[in-house]
Amino acid sequence: MEKDGEKRVMTGENIGGGGIVTVDPKPSKGIVSRMVDALEKLIVWAMYDSSEPQYYLSGNFAPVVEETPPCKNLTVRGYLPDCLNGEFVRVGSNPKFTPVAGYHWFDGDGMVHGICIKDGKATYVSRYVRTSRFKQEKFFGGAKFMKIGDLKGIFGLFMVNVQMLRAKLKVLDVSYGTGTGNTALIYHHGKLLALSEVDKPYVLKVMADGDLQTLGMLDYDKRLSHSFTAHPKIDPFTEEMFTFGYSHTPPYVTYRVITKDGIMLDPVPITIPEPVMMHDFAITENYAIFMDLPMYFRPKEMVKGKLIYSFDATKKARFGVLPRYAKDELQIRWFELPNCFIFHNANAWEEDDEIVLITCRFENPDIEVASGRLKENLENIKNELYEMRFNMKTGVASQKQLSVSAVDFPQINGCYTGRKQRFVYSAIHDNIPKVRGIIKFDLHAEPEGEKSQLEVGGNIQGIFELGPRRIGSEAIFVPRKPGITSEEDDGYLIFFVHDENTGKSEVNVIDAKTMSADPVAIIELPNRVPYGFHALFVSEKQLQQQAKL
Ligand SMILES: [Fe+2]
Repeated sequence: MEKDGEKRVMTGENIGGGGIVTVDPKPSKGIVSRMVDALEKLIVWAMYDSSEPQYYLSGNFAPVVEETPPCKNLTVRGYLPDCLNGEFVRVGSNPKFTPVAGYHWFDGDGMVHGICIKDGKATYVSRYVRTSRFKQEKFFGGAKFMKIGDLKGIFGLFMVNVQMLRAKLKVLDVSYGTGTGNTALIYHHGKLLALSEVDKPYVLKVMADGDLQTLGMLDYDKRLSHSFTAHPKIDPFTEEMFTFGYSHTPPYVTYRVITKDGIMLDPVPITIPEPVMMHDFAITENYAIFMDLPMYFRPKEMVKGKLIYSFDATKKARFGVLPRYAKDELQIRWFELPNCFIFHNANAWEEDDEIVLITCRFENPDIEVASGRLKENLENIKNELYEMRFNMKTGVASQKQLSVSAVDFPQINGCYTGRKQRFVYSAIHDNIPKVRGIIKFDLHAEPEGEKSQLEVGGNIQGIFELGPRRIGSEAIFVPRKPGITSEEDDGYLIFFVHDENTGKSEVNVIDAKTMSADPVAIIELPNRVPYGFHALFVSEKQLQQQAKL
């Protein structure tokens, strides 16, 4: 197997435990492999309608063919403040090989786009996360792993069996998992991690020139044996990381705490009635909040032509509040609210007897929206900012709508994670997957009633409109000074922008306090950056810690 971009690393005593595992899968080519390929081809020919256009492989959703090695001295219009010294990274789906049949936007190989900023100068790089899946498909020279986009109807059941056959016959080596590392990034204990919720984290190293190298997979000295959410939380005061994984077998959810020294503590099972998709969670100073929402893993529904995950509107949304250092689930308190699905929470905190959760709440969710061709009729889907409250004394839950549709990818000043705070920055979605602007909410102000669209006033303090056919992505708040001694919104928002008029991509930096229409800086990029998922800013100080690896 190829070894590029990877090396064996064991962490030294100076930075604590948590070895990084070399990912060296052993797939096998040969007659057996070719026979399964032929079977798959037959199934696709007989059952798959290939005339359906793949929206998420076209336009600026289409993958870029090549990685970009560090490209220095980019044109910067405006200026890059000192606090942006570091690496701004964003990951997304970039399938290396054309899918054999269906494709869901969540299916592509993880590619990280990075902007290394140093003293006003910027360098761009893009690299694949070298997952076990990526390495094996490169070995075969084609797509071999099952895709979410295939998991629909009877055809999906056949494709599940093709995947099981490849694993059973050792055509594919699934011992390192099947994740893509395409969803989100986090930095903890000297390591930049690329995450997808079905697998363990992959460790990336930011090199001195801004390049991104995959070091391997993190299993916390064999203590991690389950999947790991793409949205773990770091307490900025204790530097601990809180995470969970969900699976299709009881108890369905496992909660973990990782110390600031990178030690993963014992698993805490969280038992829920049925397996669900659980994309995010939240922490407060003393609690962890789990979301048991009715997006069920129901493979049997596939015979009715549905996807493997389906929303059950007859069920309630449940929120579990657990003391965050609990050793078991005995103390978890469950609260019920009207059904919904949530991809992303902004933050949570404690206020008197209540736990407050600020979140982006979907009504009538449809994950099929990111599969196959774009659905034109999205009116039934609402995605709005909400405040939810869980009263630990009375057991009563309540919710309040804070915006009209459609906002998601909520971000805050990370120095306030788990603590009461005021400002939320979020992407505005024109239709579900495309970002037309960045919005700033003031949680101290009340929403203006009777509004049918997002506009400044009430609790909306500012909107940065990108303009016609200019599409943004998740905006990350970078404080001018880390910590909570300066004003909470004293800092910048940084995000990728793609201009569909010109085909060019750029990174924009705007003033988070004023939300001025004039960007502080625009970094022109040498290549197109496809639309993607989550971003992260890794500071210069963090890069120095990481250099010890
Ligand atoms: Fe996410």
